[in-house]
Amino acid sequence: MSKRLGILSVVGCVIAVFLAAGLYAGTNIPDTVEMKNEKAFDQHRMPIVEFSHQKHTADKPDGYGVSCGECHHDENGEPLTDLKAGDEVHHCFECHSGKGAGTPKDFMGPPPDAEALNSYYTAVHVNCVGCHKKQDGPKACNQCHTKK
Ligand code: HEC
Ligand code: HEC
Ligand code: HEC
Ligand code: HEC
Repeated sequence: MSKRLGILSVVGCVIAVFLAAGLYAGTNIPDTVEMKNEKAFDQHRMPIVEFSHQKHTADKPDGYGVSCGECHHDENGEPLTDLKAGDEVHHCFECHSGKGAGTPKDFMGPPPDAEALNSYYTAVHVNCVGCHKKQDGPKACNQCHTKK
C-alpha cells in the first residue's frame, strides 16, 4: 500500500467513526421527527405527530420506499432527488411560512393554489395526506395526531 493510500484509509476510518457516532458535520437524517412547530402554531390543539422519517425512506419491504424528492424540493418546487446525509436541508416552514391552522377542507378538497400553499398547515397536510390518498396510507386525523 502506498503512503498516500495509507493516509486516505486512516481518513476514511475517522470519517466512518464520526458517521457512526452521528457527529457528522452536515445535517443528520432523522429517524423520527417530532412535528411540533411552535413558530407556525401558537399552540397545538391536536396530539403531536411523530413522523417516522426512517420508515418512510427505507427500501421496501422494511420501509415504504419513498424517495427524498417526494417531500423535499428546492425554491422552485423541483424535487431534490439526490438529497443525502450531510446536505443542507431546509425546513418546510422556511418557504411555507404562513402561520396558523386552517380547516380540513384545505387539504381534503381540490389541490391548493400557490397562495394557499404558503400556509405551513396546508403544505404539510397536502404532502402527507396527498400521498396517503394515493398509496393507501393513514388519512384519519387520529392516525397521525397520536402523541398525547
Ligand atoms: C398524514 C398525517 C396527518 C393527518 C392524517 C392529519 N394531520 Fe394534522 N398535522 C400533521 C402534521 C405533520 C402537522 C404539522 C405539525 C407541526 O409541525 O407542528 C399537522 C398539524 C395540524 C394542526 C395544527 C397544529 C395543532 O395541533 O393545532 C391541526 C389543527 C391539524 N393538523 C388538524 C388535523 C385534522 C383535523 C385532521 C383530520 C381531518 C388532520 N390534522 C389529519 C399531520 C397529519
Ligand atoms: C415522506 C416525506 C419525506 C421523505 C421521503 C424524506 N423526508 Fe426528510 N424530512 C421530512 C420532513 C417532514 C422533515 C421535517 C422538516 C421540517 O422540520 O420542516 C424532514 C427532515 C429532514 C432532515 C432534517 C432537517 C433538520 O435540519 O432537522 C434531513 C437531513 C432530511 N429530512 C433528509 C432526507 C433525505 C436525505 C431523504 C431521502 C433519503 C429524506 N429526507 C426523505 C420529510 C421527508
Ligand atoms: C426552498 C423552499 C421550499 C422548501 C424548503 C419547501 N418547499 Fe414546498 N414548495 C416550494 C415551492 C416554490 C413550491 C411550488 C409552489 C407552486 O406550485 O406554485 C412548493 C410546493 C409544495 C407543495 C405542492 C406541490 C406538491 O408537491 O403537491 C407541497 C405539498 C409542498 N410544497 C410541501 C412541502 C413540504 C412538506 C416541505 C418540507 C418537507 C416543503 N414543501 C419544503 C418551496 C419550498
Ligand atoms: C410519497 C408518499 C408518502 C408521503 C409524502 C408521506 N407518507 Fe406516510 N406513509 C406512506 C406509506 C406508503 C405508508 C404505509 C402505508 C401502509 O402500508 O400501511 C405510510 C404510513 C404512515 C403512517 C403510519 C405508519 C407509521 O409509519 O407510523 C404515518 C403515521 C404516516 N405515514 C405519517 C406521515 C406524515 C406525518 C407525513 C408527512 C410529513 C407522511 N406520512 C408523508 C407514504 C407517504
